[in-house]
Amino acid sequence: MRTNHRWLATLTAALAVAAALASVPAAAAPDTSVKDTMKKMQAQVLNGDAKPLAAMFDATKAKGRPEFANWGPISDKGKAAAVKGDLDGAKATCKECHDAYRTDFKTKYGSKAP
Ligand code: HEC
Repeated sequence: MRTNHRWLATLTAALAVAAALASVPAAAAPDTSVKDTMKKMQAQVLNGDAKPLAAMFDATKAKGRPEFANWGPISDKGKAAAVKGDLDGAKATCKECHDAYRTDFKTKYGSKAP
C-alpha cells in the first residue's frame, strides 16, 4: 500500500509539471505589436512627412532581440534620418531591416509565430 501511495504522489507531481508545461505556448503567443507599428509606419511614409516616424523607430527598436544584432543600430539610423526630415534616408532603413530580419522575426516571434 505504501509503495502504491508513493507511485500516486509521483504521478500527481508529473501531472502538475505537464500542466505547467502545457501553459507555456500560450505565454509565447504571436507578438503582433511590431506588425501594428509597421502599419502606422507605412501610413506615415505615404503621408510624406518623415518626422513622426522617429517615435515609431523607437517603438520598433524596443522590440528587437539579441540575436538580431543590427536591429537596434538600423532603428537608430532610421530615427536619425526621420528627425532630419529625410524621408528617403528613413525608407532605406525600412528595407535594410526587412531584408535582414523581417522573415525571421515574423516567423519566430511576430505575427506568424507558432
Ligand atoms: C528594425 C527592423 C524594422 C524596421 C526599421 C522597419 N521594419 Fe517594417 N517590418 C519589420 C518586421 C520584423 C516586420 C514583420 C512583422 C510581423 O509580421 O510580425 C515588418 C513588416 C512590415 C510591413 C508589413 C506589415 C503587415 O501588415 O504585415 C510593412 C508595411 C512595413 N514593415 C513597413 C515599414 C516601413 C514603411 C518602415 C520604415 C519607415 C519599416 N517597416 C521599418 C521590421 C522593421
